[in-house]
Amino acid sequence: MIHSFDAVIIGSGLAGLRAAVEVSRQGSVAVLTKLYPTRSHSTAAQGGIGAALGNEEPDRPEWHFYDTAKGGDFLGDQDAIEVMCEDAIRTIIELEHLGVPFSRTPEGKIAQRKFGGHTREFGSAPVRRACYSADRTGHAIMFALFEQCGRQGVQFFKEFHVIDIAIEKNRCTGVIALEILTGEIHLFTAEAVLVASGGYGKVFKTTSNAHASTGDCLGILADKGIPLEDMEFFQFHPTGLYGLGILITEGARGEGGILLNGKGERFMEHYAPTIKDLAPRDMVSRAIITEIREGRGIDGRDYVHLDLTKVDKRIIEERLPEISTFCRIYMGIDPSMAPIPVLPTAHYAMGGIPTDIDGRVLKNEIGDAIEGLFAAGECACVSVHGANRLGCNSLLDTVVFGRRAGIAICDILNKTGRGSVSKESVDRAREAIDTMLRRKGSEKAAVIRKALQQAMMDKCSEFRTENELLSLTEALKGLRERTLEIGLKDKGKRFNTELLEALELNHLISLGELIAHSALQRTESRGAHTREDFPDRDDMNWLKHTLAFKTDKGPVFGYKEVRITRFRPAERKY
Ligand code: FUM
Repeated sequence: MIHSFDAVIIGSGLAGLRAAVEVSRQGSVAVLTKLYPTRSHSTAAQGGIGAALGNEEPDRPEWHFYDTAKGGDFLGDQDAIEVMCEDAIRTIIELEHLGVPFSRTPEGKIAQRKFGGHTREFGSAPVRRACYSADRTGHAIMFALFEQCGRQGVQFFKEFHVIDIAIEKNRCTGVIALEILTGEIHLFTAEAVLVASGGYGKVFKTTSNAHASTGDCLGILADKGIPLEDMEFFQFHPTGLYGLGILITEGARGEGGILLNGKGERFMEHYAPTIKDLAPRDMVSRAIITEIREGRGIDGRDYVHLDLTKVDKRIIEERLPEISTFCRIYMGIDPSMAPIPVLPTAHYAMGGIPTDIDGRVLKNEIGDAIEGLFAAGECACVSVHGANRLGCNSLLDTVVFGRRAGIAICDILNKTGRGSVSKESVDRAREAIDTMLRRKGSEKAAVIRKALQQAMMDKCSEFRTENELLSLTEALKGLRERTLEIGLKDKGKRFNTELLEALELNHLISLGELIAHSALQRTESRGAHTREDFPDRDDMNWLKHTLAFKTDKGPVFGYKEVRITRFRPAERKY
């Protein structure tokens, strides 16, 4: 079946929906999602969206800018960071007007709370900068934007799995997708395509990410020779529920929760004396793992405690209802009465598809763009988060850069006309599916995926070494070979989730390879990338972005300058 739209957006998370709101004011928009729209992973974002509103205490966008640059260990592009932080206040007011039910101060202003790495006066003390809707902020924004899309006639194609993004002669002309319900192949042609398909946390075993966060579109673009930027930087959120990885919001610490080791010590006092438990995530996660490695986990085991028992019970009920429910359901714990066992969980990809500040996808070191192709949200690397994202900056990133991509798409509509996709591309997509269905091997995608996730977790999480990364790259080669032996039990077309898992696995392995090789070549420690064999940040050699190009012979690397406009890299003390 063939469809034609002015713009096709892949992904119905916040970046995709915010762009859809913008573009649908001017043209026809299709949003493709492999889920049901309101089940996108953005709904899992809990604690807040950053903006220097100054509603609860003085704050300034330039402090936000400084914190974001420093939090990212000075790898973020400062022109992009400035755009984001300056646009944050307008963005929050716009969201409020679109219907987001933010929590309120007693006087009725939008309430704000503290979040890791957000400070006043260039690092002097934590500041209340995260605007929130209890601990369901992503959920609240999602529903407001979804309603606006409905109002503006955005057409949703639900449970459509993207198989290919058509790029011909440096121009993106459309998307090929599998309708999960029927197994039918659909072709979408468009003047512009926005990739807003979210992250790929499922490459790791323990993650806060949803089952669907498998990075399919990044894998598709990597296969087409588009580089992926800064893939070595993957964030571990300090407080995942022990054994499960489910997110316990940083807002819990913003409301007064503290981390305790097995000796009952508030250990973050040693690692970040000024802002303690509200240090950036990379530092807190490393501190937790260090405490555990040195035998100071709870009862000598591999977790620490997040203690909310001294936080007013009413605050927990009003502002942290979601995580309280998670603690009760999954751990049998009432967080107002007992500490929560936590361990870092793979949470957010700083790396992704290189873009400029208007979402145009860039294909090389000198910034040449692919016509008609845009990316925004977690799948993109603009790069505002540098080597480590600050909490509550991801929701901001999605709506600020989703909107900017939407505006840039509007600018090109009706200029080149909708593209066409060659018959060969469609035949290739169909053949790839048929080949997968025909295979008779004895391997199972789910088994290989489990091995991948375990290997990534063991050898490429908070701490890395050359030896472990080398052994990981070998292990990944082996897993790649095993995928050729995958045989599907389900040969049917309708809702063939076994087929989808096999397709996703190929991309997950590609992303694992790019992460591992990118981590191997960066011989320094910066932000979320800690090389135990290269413990220092090395600005002389590594103040640059990595571009990893996937090739048949393994990744090949290029580099891009970091754009520093205001804050020179300095020692990162908190
Ligand atoms: O901790 C949290 O609520 C997560 C927020 C974020 O990743 O920005």
